[in-house]
Amino acid sequence: MKENEAILQTHMKDFGYGYFEKPEQIIPPIAISFYSFHIMVSFGMWFIALFALVLFFILKRDIKNYPLVLYAALWSIPLGYIAAEAGWIVAEVGRQPWAIQDLMPTHIAATHLGGGNVALSFTLFAILFTVLLIAEIKIMLRQIAKGFEGAH
Ligand code: HEM
Repeated sequence: MKENEAILQTHMKDFGYGYFEKPEQIIPPIAISFYSFHIMVSFGMWFIALFALVLFFILKRDIKNYPLVLYAALWSIPLGYIAAEAGWIVAEVGRQPWAIQDLMPTHIAATHLGGGNVALSFTLFAILFTVLLIAEIKIMLRQIAKGFEGAH
């Protein structure tokens, strides 16, 4: 018993590698991770600079009189979403081919559920998030309609 446990302990770190046939199979798609990471971090850096700029214009100037800064802030809204998606790609693609590092490869962890079930849960999520999106846009438009004065 003790012997078996010792064998298990010794080889546990190699457990998941038994599922692969060639060493190349454990290399993640490097270019996708690389570019996604750079997109995410570039936008992250841009946000740090933008927030500092906006803070300066709020505290030291009357930001209402600087449309360029306001437009920069406005047009940066989508960048947050793009950065989040890029970050998610970094995390998901970068960890390939593992679902659990060194233990369970993704192709072993993948569901055996039929396409119908997957389509159903996808549709439900799509509906739910569309409703949330509509609510969010409504809230933002109401807030924008109030303008600067209404915000105080
Ligand atoms: C400022 C520079 C940034 C750095 C250095 C950075 C760093 C990282 C790293 C290292 C990961 C991978 C974590 C892992 O190992 O799984 C990651 C994931 C992620 N990042 Fe960034 N990030 C930055 C900016 C941003 C920004 C601005 C956003 C979104 C507005 C963002 C959203 C995400 C998301 C959603 C993930 C995936 C998390 C997950 O699913 O586990 N990141 N980030």
